[in-house]
Amino acid sequence: MSRVAYVNGRYVPHNKAQVSIDDRGHVFADGVYEVTLVVGGRMIDLEGHVARLERSLRELDMPQPMSSRALIHIMNQTIKRNRVKDGMVYLQVNRGTAPRNHVYDNDDLQPSVVCTAKSVPLPSDADAVDGVKVISQPDIRWGRVDIKTVSLLPNALAKTAAAKEGAYEAFLVDDDGYVTECSASNAWIVDKDGRVVTRPLSNEILPGITRDRVIKLAEENGIEVVERPFTLAEAKSAREAFLTSTTSFVKPVTQIDDVTIGNGHPGTVTRTLLGAYLNFIREIRQPAT
Ligand SMILES: Cc1ncc(COP(=O)(O)O)c(C=O)c1O
Repeated sequence: MSRVAYVNGRYVPHNKAQVSIDDRGHVFADGVYEVTLVVGGRMIDLEGHVARLERSLRELDMPQPMSSRALIHIMNQTIKRNRVKDGMVYLQVNRGTAPRNHVYDNDDLQPSVVCTAKSVPLPSDADAVDGVKVISQPDIRWGRVDIKTVSLLPNALAKTAAAKEGAYEAFLVDDDGYVTECSASNAWIVDKDGRVVTRPLSNEILPGITRDRVIKLAEENGIEVVERPFTLAEAKSAREAFLTSTTSFVKPVTQIDDVTIGNGHPGTVTRTLLGAYLNFIREIRQPAT
């Protein structure tokens, strides 16, 4: 079955979907986006994604292209038309199309809206629990990474550097030696007392929807969460480390640069949180009857 994309009011074959070369998303990375997990045809943590999109638009002085209800309708339609049961839906809103000029005037611009969806099999329990290697990279991003913009070049460079070293992700490190987050996920460690530690929300990290969900699941499972910055050195000597994102779930980290974390296998706290997260999404897939 060929893929279908939504572009500015029309559902078109994916390979025919187009926006203008004068679209400010193309010229200035002047756009925001959301990636939402789909399980059993339903979007997971949709409220959080929609609230974050609304915030991203507000923070960048971009008008809401249509009501959030209408955007959700488009996302659902794109999921259905691509027959996605398990996978992800991608929504991008750009400020609009105008002759290239740094200065924008929202009154003269019609935001462009693009939505795609694709199937991605959910990992089996065995796959999900595989530990991964990460490398450290300097965090060279701008000062508002709390906004989910498509301006992802530093993230792409860091993740590619990781891939070239056979690593899954990059821990981004600020000028003071503290880990901010990863190139496409939030970073966590487990301290010697079994508490999970992650950097507090600020303009230096993306407020991950999975981060938020995992904090709730930790609390439900009696695991203490401490929101404070941690250094790369502390991460390397942590009992456990993991990362979270919509597409990575809770991913155990068993190596940072050349250092093995813990005993080199996913630790108990990480496994508990991963199990809780998988249960959470499975319950949505097969609601109790
Ligand atoms: C830089 C960055 N941090 C964190 C995340 C995790 O966010 P979420 O859990 O909402 O997917 C992402 C996801 O794309 C990201 O790009």
